[in-house]
Amino acid sequence: MRTHLDVSSKLVSRFEGRIARYFDDGLLVYFGYPSAHEDDAKRAVCAGLEIVDAFGQLPLENTQVQLPLQVRVGIHTGLMVIGEMKVKDTREPIEIVGGTPNIAARLLSVAEPYTVVISSATYRLVEGLFEYHYLGLHTLKGFSTPLDVYRVLHESGVRSRFDVSITKGLTPLVGREKEVELLLECWEQVKEGAGQVVTIIGDAGIGKSRLLYEFRKLIEDEKILYLEGRCISYGKSISYLPVTDIIKKRFRIDNLDTERTIRKNIEKGIRDIDPNLEGSIPFLYDILSIETDALLKSLDLRDKRKRTLETLKNIILADSNLRPLVVAVENLHWIDGASEEFLTFLIDNIPSSKIMLILTSRPGYRAKWSEKSYHIQIAPSRLSDKEVEEMIKSILDSERVTGELIKLVTNKADGIPFYVEEIIKSFIESEIIVRREDGYSISKSIAEVDVPDTIQDIIMARIDRLEENLKRTLQYASVIGREFSYKLLKEIIEIEEELQDYLTQLKGLELIYEKSLFPDLEYRFKHSLTQEVAYNSLLIKRRKELHGKIGEILEDLYGDKLEENYELLAYHYRRSTRDEKAVDYLTLAGDKSAKIYSTEDA
Ligand SMILES: Nc1ncnc2c1ncn2[C@@H]1O[C@H](COP(=O)(O)OP(=O)(O)O)[C@@H](O)[C@H]1O
Ligand SMILES: [Mg+2]
Repeated sequence: MRTHLDVSSKLVSRFEGRIARYFDDGLLVYFGYPSAHEDDAKRAVCAGLEIVDAFGQLPLENTQVQLPLQVRVGIHTGLMVIGEMKVKDTREPIEIVGGTPNIAARLLSVAEPYTVVISSATYRLVEGLFEYHYLGLHTLKGFSTPLDVYRVLHESGVRSRFDVSITKGLTPLVGREKEVELLLECWEQVKEGAGQVVTIIGDAGIGKSRLLYEFRKLIEDEKILYLEGRCISYGKSISYLPVTDIIKKRFRIDNLDTERTIRKNIEKGIRDIDPNLEGSIPFLYDILSIETDALLKSLDLRDKRKRTLETLKNIILADSNLRPLVVAVENLHWIDGASEEFLTFLIDNIPSSKIMLILTSRPGYRAKWSEKSYHIQIAPSRLSDKEVEEMIKSILDSERVTGELIKLVTNKADGIPFYVEEIIKSFIESEIIVRREDGYSISKSIAEVDVPDTIQDIIMARIDRLEENLKRTLQYASVIGREFSYKLLKEIIEIEEELQDYLTQLKGLELIYEKSLFPDLEYRFKHSLTQEVAYNSLLIKRRKELHGKIGEILEDLYGDKLEENYELLAYHYRRSTRDEKAVDYLTLAGDKSAKIYSTEDA
């Protein structure tokens, strides 16, 4: 048992999960606590699959009775509240509230030995990334509503969110003419023998992968070679991860290929590129974790690294002599050290080659090559309201969409295409968007609208990575609203002296921006969803206290101008525990509206 649990915990930590509890015969694991990642569901499923795999292979050492051990993994996604207690310097979770772990545990009753089963909530987040077998609706013990349950078979080979979108059908492209034009201009230069490096930079979901895809489609008829590598969120510690991708692509190596096939493909491939490069074969084997010759093993690690980089560079340069070459590396913000060193090295040699290197990354990644004259940066901007409207109409496949619906989605999505898609998807699922005879419209009141899980995960991951003080600043500001004044925030937060500094940092991270300096210093959340997610990450009890406090401060602050602010006061008091105050201000606000014949508001 101990060996098996040890193996499991190693695999769990590889995917940055956290073991919450050991049982006699199992483990309870969280993904997303203590800090969220944008792909926690995927990580959980990967860890589950690897655990099942590892159990099948472990020998039963030192056992007197040869009892086969069986393993099952159940995964569910949902909200949990974890109480924290400071014990000396460590923080121990002491209590978990919410049914999430129970559902995960109950799922085990549905699972066959050596399988991973997931609930529909998890399925929604990892759809497309794995192959599944639908196990039907199940009513789990202790829960009244039945749940869709799936068994996860294996990874689907599709590795990114964008690949999943491709298989489901992409929303027709809107805008981006300028960006595509720029890429094509670079491409012309590359074909003339002036290699270029292009970085596409922008927030998650802005359309970096999509832009790359559109470019690739435009050049696909030309006689060229297109190679692509990817960095993944838990790949920072996996050496040469995107480089391995590229090698596999170039030498047509599939994940299921036998070692013999791999050797054959590489030998033939190298011969095609340049027979003189034969000496590089062992280095490729080494990167692909294939047994290689003794010479390589005898090199010290520094030498080996140097020669590996040299070899890879030579192969790529030689390859680009045969025809123009596009090398794309996605998500540089997650790149491992070895691959980064390789890129830096390659880039020095690019200007006189027919290589176009296209990189994508989120803001915040600092590239060593950004000053090179043959490097350009493309930053796709947020979509305009008009473009978002166009997207909404093509997703719903209808011209008849009410203005109210368009306005709601546009406000929420902040011009980020991924948000537009996810918001509409989740609105359709929760029946907020309904189809009537005269077209699509909204069914529920806007207050009931939740942030879709997929977006929540991306934003929460970002907030969780902030230093504690910055996170708290953001959370407290979110209670005030999308816009907040320095003065008010200072009153409700206890960290006065450094507050200005924190706000400056948050501004630097482009989470908020300064809205006005006079008469008051005011800030605004860049995305309304960031504000919502930060708000939702506070406990309800805490939120209520803060709203109450804000109400009191506003009453003080506005002393003689209260009437102007009845609605605002009502807003905060309604969300606090001060019900009488809420009723008072709601009534006053109502009277005020009635006076100007704004009867609906009244
Ligand atoms: N200009 C656009 N028009 C229509 N859909 C878009 C546009 N840009 C991106 N999308 C869609 O939005 C989603 C997110 O885009 P993606 O390229 O994956 O973002 P990123 O790589 O920047 O995180 C994808 O489904 C993509 O097809
Ligand atoms: Mg992408």
